[in-house]
Order: sequence, then C-alpha cells, then structure tokens
Amino acid sequence: MSGVKDIPTARLRTGAGMPLLGFGTWQARGTRGREATRYALEQGYRHLDTATMYRNESEVGQALRDSGVPRDEVFLTTKLPAERAGQERRTLTESLRALGVDAVDLWLIHWPPNGQARPEIWQRFQELRDEGLTRAIGVSNYSIRQIDELVEATGETPTVNQIPWGPTLHDATVLEEHRARGIVVEGYSPFKNTDLDAPVLREVAAAHGVSTAQVVLRWHLQHSVVVIPKSVTPARIVANLDVLGFELSPDEMSRIDGLGR
Ligand SMILES: NC(=O)c1ccc[n+]([C@@H]2O[C@H](COP(=O)([O-])OP(=O)(O)OC[C@H]3O[C@@H](n4cnc5c(N)ncnc54)[C@H](OP(=O)(O)O)[C@@H]3O)[C@@H](O)[C@H]2O)c1
Repeated sequence: MSGVKDIPTARLRTGAGMPLLGFGTWQARGTRGREATRYALEQGYRHLDTATMYRNESEVGQALRDSGVPRDEVFLTTKLPAERAGQERRTLTESLRALGVDAVDLWLIHWPPNGQARPEIWQRFQELRDEGLTRAIGVSNYSIRQIDELVEATGETPTVNQIPWGPTLHDATVLEEHRARGIVVEGYSPFKNTDLDAPVLREVAAAHGVSTAQVVLRWHLQHSVVVIPKSVTPARIVANLDVLGFELSPDEMSRIDGLGR
C-alpha cells in the first residue's frame, strides 16, 4: 500500500494542495457506496469527489466519520447541479448538512446550464466562498471560452475545471490553455473514456508489471492532471491507489499521448 503522504498534489491558486489522485463516487450509493468510500479512506485516499446530483453526500459524509480520518486531512469536492442555478445558498447548505461538515474544499458548477457560462452563478459562488462555506470554487464541463466569459464578467478565474479526460481525449492545447490561466485540470471517467485493451497500454503495462488501468492513472499524474477513479470493488480501490511505485518514461508518455491524436 502506498503511504498517504506520497500522493502528489496540485497547487490551487488559493494555496491549497489538492491530491492528484482522488476517489470518484458517482453511482456509489447506499451501503455499498458508504463502505467503498470508507475503505478508500482507510487505504489512504485523501480526496473524495461527490455532487448533489450523485445523491450520496450523506453516505460520503458518514464514510468520512466512520473512517476516523480527520476532516482536515481530506480534500472534499461537491457540485451544484445546473438546474439548481439561483438556489446556490440553499443547495450548498444542504450539501454541507448531508456531508456533516462546516465547509467543503471545492465547490463546482457541475455543468454550464443550457450550455451557458452564467456569470451570475459564478458571482454567488464567490460570495459563498467569501463566507467560508467552501474553501475554493471552480467549474466542470466548461469550455475555455465559457471560462473566459466568467473571468471577464467577474474578474475571478475558477481554480479547477473538471472535464472528461483520458489518453484518447489527450489534447496538449487544452492542457496549456488551462495552465496559462492558472486553472488545474481535473479529469473524470478515466476508465470509461479509455479502451483498457489498447495495444500501447498493454505493452507499457507489461513493461512495468502493472495493469493498463494503473498505467492510465499514472499517465494522468505525470501530466499533473487530477484523476478521480471510481470503484466499489475493494481490490480495485487498492490497485487504483497503487500507482506511485513506478514511472512512465518520456517515450511511454508520448506514445500514450498519441492515443489522443
Ligand atoms: N463532473 C462531471 O460531470 C463528472 C462526470 C462523470 C464522472 N465524474 C466524477 O469522476 C469519477 C470517475 O468517473 P466515472 O465514475 O464516470 O468512471 P471511471 O472512474 O472511469 O470508471 C468507473 C468504472 O470502472 C470500473 N473500474 C474501477 N477501477 C477499475 C480498474 N482498476 N480496472 C477496471 N475497471 C475499473 C468501476 O467498476 P466497480 O466500481 O464495479 O469496481 C466502474 O464501473 C466519478 O465517480 C465522479 O466522481 C464527474
């Protein structure tokens, strides 16, 4: 098992460290979701990703308490569903109550409502952040053009954009556009977006004696892209965290990048 302290972090503009490897919880609900989340914390994950839409915030909060891991050691993200635009305060308050915490570490606009950036939502996010209900704010599924619209209207840049990512979606320009603005890229659905049988991944995995899933996660880390694999299977929860003991060479990285072209 990898030591907790080994998980590298992305530095948010707020100064906070966000573990590059976190635990996704979409479709992890009920007893199974709660047990999986607690197990993940026991194994050393220190970053949990939930959302109002996942309807599992109470399970995630219970898992956090059951694990005995101190609240301040866990980076906790939740998200505002687009259809709750206009109900930001109520929605975040409900999230905090369900999670059983005073504040989350990151609150995201889950997706642009009707494909619109909606700077007034972003303004309310800033107000609730300033009140201390969330330590950082960001967006999800936003394009760079939509992010620029938020910045032009309010003067504040999101800390994070959570977007679908994986080798077949690799696009160096997208990464560079976020970095130029000081935005951390957080990738989601690393496995669902990947053919885990792709020959390149199989070759690289064999060379390191790991699985192709582990190669995909390691590839994210070496690109400094936050990755949040979800699993309710104990062996996979452990394996997905066990990606700190090998390193992909520059040649292997670029061959995997090539799946995105
Ligand atoms: N912002 C957004 O709009 C958005 C959208 C989608 C997801 N997300 C976030 O990103 C997280 C991850 O994405 P995701 O849940 O869509 O998909 P994912 O993490 O790419 O894939 C999860 C699936 O892969 C399986 N799996 C887990 N580890 C595996 C391994 N080592 N080898 C093979 N299969 C494995 C899981 O099965 P078992 O669970 O049965 O083990 C599950 O079926 C979500 O949980 C959520 O927190 C955000």
